Amino acid sequence: MKFFLDTGNMEEITRINRLGLVDGVTTNPSIIAKEKRPFKDIIQDIARTVPGPISAEVIGTSTREMIKEGREIATWAPNIVVKLPLTESGLEATYQLSQEGIKTNVTLVFSAAQGLMAAKAGATYISPFVGRLDDIGVDGMKLVRDLKTILNEYNFSTEIIAASIRSIEHVEQAALAGAHIATIPGSLLPSLWKHPLTDIGLERFLKDWASVPQTK
Ligand code: E4P
Repeated sequence: MKFFLDTGNMEEITRINRLGLVDGVTTNPSIIAKEKRPFKDIIQDIARTVPGPISAEVIGTSTREMIKEGREIATWAPNIVVKLPLTESGLEATYQLSQEGIKTNVTLVFSAAQGLMAAKAGATYISPFVGRLDDIGVDGMKLVRDLKTILNEYNFSTEIIAASIRSIEHVEQAALAGAHIATIPGSLLPSLWKHPLTDIGLERFLKDWASVPQTK
């Protein structure tokens, strides 16, 4: 499973990229708003740092606006993916941009039917929102499993990005469900390599090592 970072923060991206763990980056308008910098600057900085796919979302709500913005955003760097919401206009824009060879990520997917529509419209990626479904008492990971079954059954090339990831368990479950990608908040990812027993074990090794006689 690939790891994307769900952030627009360059410090988080640079730190985790040094470990070779960043296969791509996703952003959304809320993530961009936190950075207090122009959208294009943020996306181009990320695209210069991470060679993998970088999702940047359109703001327009009509098909015409989304296509215009999508074409513009796609010129910002060679690895841009245009992110579009799952609305009728979003699906039409996805279809049009895909026909033009522009990569797309259809976001705000909350049902298997929606995901199937996006795949049929030619989406490169679909983003089921696991955490937000869990928030309303629906099993978000079941959606990832169902989408995986559907995409496999009909040989779609569309890849699933497990999104709205909130916990280590979400990441593990996404991998078990066969999600192609999990997009993980920059603040959460470091907790994936941490375990209290690792810290205790290392402390004990170093303490014991102190009693080993040194070569003269
Ligand atoms: C997906 O691409 C979104 O950016 C993101 O995963 C949304 O997550 P949230 O529900 O934590 O805002």
